[in-house]
Amino acid sequence: MNDRPEETPVSEPAAAPAPEDVLIIVPVRNMVLFPGVVLPVAIGRERSIAGAQEALRARRKVGFLLQLESETENPGPEELHKVGTMASIVRYVTGQDGTHHLICQGEQRFTVLDYVSTDPFLVARVETHEDPVTVPPEIEARSVALRERAIEAVELLPQAPAELANAIRGIEAAGALADVVASFMDVKPAEKQELLATFDLKQRLDRVLELLGQRIEVLRLSRDIDTKTREALEERQKEAILRERLRQIRKELGEDEEGPAELAELEESVAKAGMPQEVEEHARRELARLKRMPEAAGEYSMARTYLDWLVAMPWSKLDTEHLDIERARKVLDEDHYGLEKVKKRILEFLAVRKLNPEGRSPILCFVGPPGVGKTSLGQSIARALGLKFQRVSLGGVHDEAEIRGHRRTYIGSLPGNVVQAIRKAGTRNPVLMLDEVDKLSASIQGDPSSALLEVLDPEQNNTFRDNYLGVPFDLSKVLFIGTANVLDAIPVPLRDRMEIIHLTGYTEEEKLEIAKRYLVTRQLAANGLKPGQAQLADEVLRRIIADYTREAGVRSLERQVGAVLRNIAVTIAAGEAASVTVSPEDLTRILGAPRFENEVALRTSVPGVATGLAWTPVGGDILFVESSRVPGSGKLILTGQLGEVMKESAQAAVTLVKAQAESLGLDPALLEKSDLHVHVPAGAIPKDGPSAGVAIFTSLASLLTNRTVANDVAMTGEISLRGLVLPVGGIKEKTVAAARAGIRTVILPARNRRDFEEIPESVRNALEFVWVEKVEEALARALKETPARRAAA
Ligand SMILES: Nc1ncnc2c1ncn2[C@@H]1O[C@H](COP(=O)(O)OP(=O)(O)O)[C@@H](O)[C@H]1O
Ligand SMILES: [Mg+2]
Repeated sequence: MNDRPEETPVSEPAAAPAPEDVLIIVPVRNMVLFPGVVLPVAIGRERSIAGAQEALRARRKVGFLLQLESETENPGPEELHKVGTMASIVRYVTGQDGTHHLICQGEQRFTVLDYVSTDPFLVARVETHEDPVTVPPEIEARSVALRERAIEAVELLPQAPAELANAIRGIEAAGALADVVASFMDVKPAEKQELLATFDLKQRLDRVLELLGQRIEVLRLSRDIDTKTREALEERQKEAILRERLRQIRKELGEDEEGPAELAELEESVAKAGMPQEVEEHARRELARLKRMPEAAGEYSMARTYLDWLVAMPWSKLDTEHLDIERARKVLDEDHYGLEKVKKRILEFLAVRKLNPEGRSPILCFVGPPGVGKTSLGQSIARALGLKFQRVSLGGVHDEAEIRGHRRTYIGSLPGNVVQAIRKAGTRNPVLMLDEVDKLSASIQGDPSSALLEVLDPEQNNTFRDNYLGVPFDLSKVLFIGTANVLDAIPVPLRDRMEIIHLTGYTEEEKLEIAKRYLVTRQLAANGLKPGQAQLADEVLRRIIADYTREAGVRSLERQVGAVLRNIAVTIAAGEAASVTVSPEDLTRILGAPRFENEVALRTSVPGVATGLAWTPVGGDILFVESSRVPGSGKLILTGQLGEVMKESAQAAVTLVKAQAESLGLDPALLEKSDLHVHVPAGAIPKDGPSAGVAIFTSLASLLTNRTVANDVAMTGEISLRGLVLPVGGIKEKTVAAARAGIRTVILPARNRRDFEEIPESVRNALEFVWVEKVEEALARALKETPARRAAA
């Protein structure tokens, strides 16, 4: 060693540390080597080459450290990261162009303690780190997830070697897996460095998972874009090539532009399409026109597309309708729990249709909040009748042409969505669901509802004229069904044409039954599980309903059930269990913290907050009215984007509070020196109407008397300036929502007693009903006896 020109600092350690405590450091600019990974490292700088050669000669390991700034030419200790990877040099390659490469095997993380030498190369004393060998289940779980996602990512990579996925499958240790994935991930060196420096295994796994998630997202997007452009290109190229070939063949055959094969085919299709005579003649004229056009003309492809549409329409295809009432009843019961009244009405409708097939049957329209089964009832009806089902979504349609089609004057014009749905159905008598008729809106492009009226009008719809088709199409055999969230929002002429069937929200018990009988079974199948493999007890379903959903229907319930079953599917697929029984305690782990738990209790824990009940297009909800007092001059401040009527209602409440100051035991002087602030927090609830009067009044009284509102009480009712409680609408929806939110007592206007009958049995049993005529009675029931401790009066 002494005959070497350079001194090897390694060979003369002061305190004789163990060999691997002292490392030759090779600074790198743009890459991070991880333990467990073999990578080529290009080196070019004098000091790096000297260091690497010495390491090779002395069979020592080297330590790679990323530079803080990649531009630094000869980084000193201060210009390097402190955490790096110790590696052994597997091979040293000197290229023909004079470049030097090290093939390195990353081995262990290390942290630099101090530098013992900087010349002729850097040498540092280091402390190495090892990942724990046994890990707790939370880390194991992450590592399972990471392995899956990593394989998913590899499969998305356009040119990934198949070995990569296998290699990932083969890595057992969580830390090693995180390192390998981090190494292959296409992220900035700084980000990799951060991962390298994260010694905590859980943190590291979480971060890698997060980064990988983002990469997968990007990979997916770019793959989708790729396929789309490629498909579009290939399609166009193919067509051009085929056309050219066709032209050549025709030339060979001595046929010129006359009578090409594809047109002959089209002619045959026209003959076979079963068109009414008038339409067929029109189609033949179009065909003749097409034959005269040069193929290259833009017009040609437009005319061609048009003829395709004409040919594709089911002019005379009719499915046979099976009208067996018993069978229909069975189908409806198979697909839907409860809804007895609705099913009865549907069966009546079908019975009438059976008795009088030629008569005009009314158009049914299901009205109710999202997720209560409107769409799926339509599908059931189609299934019961043995007819095709198609859905036309009218949400946001504000252009007449979307219903009636665009004229064929420009490229890309198409028939309206009714004709499109008929073509998709492939028959002239499908069940056609006009979804969300309440979401239509008129605009300068015309009123779509008038077009829809024509579609539905039995006097006219046997000759419905779509602007694009330009010829009449018979819609009279279509079975139309409408749906809407809000009755009032349906344009009146349209509403008059339809027979409205209301679907209100489900109670907790009904949801439980629906979940047990339908949603779980469906989601089991959707997630590839067999019935025995997952058990969700009633208690678990109840918790999901109460703590993780807040809706009138069962849509998010179905989603949450799906999420739980997916989680189970992973456990079973990983071979960790043959079947899983979910306990209520597992839910937090799987679905996260409860979302709607105890919101009422939390909010009403301070004076000034009252729980009101609101009617909403989606079936009722609770809302909070929050009052506070600030020094001022007796003004009223209203926030929360309240409508005019609600503002008036708040004003009335303040007046009423002032009038009753004495009986409430308030100091009138205090009221004069304060501004009152009433806020109704944002939410999806339309905040207008007078029905929050009692709640606003109660919230103010609660604030000023410093008595909190009982956290299991909710209220609705309009107030008069003399303190009377006036009746309001939506009692059924409101009480259902109250029960859903865990309220025990509802305070309602005495004059709404007549609505009691409408309230579902289970809700009636779950709630205590307090019928009040005057606001005092409401306060007596709502406010707690003893004042709250002075905190935020
Ligand atoms: N009474 C019920 N019985 C069984 N499943 C139901 C019931 N009501 C709703 N569902 C299911 O809930 C989901 C949402 O229903 P959907 O028909 O889309 O609601 P809507 O059209 O009213 O918004 C569907 O999967 C549906 O089958
Ligand atoms: Mg729907």
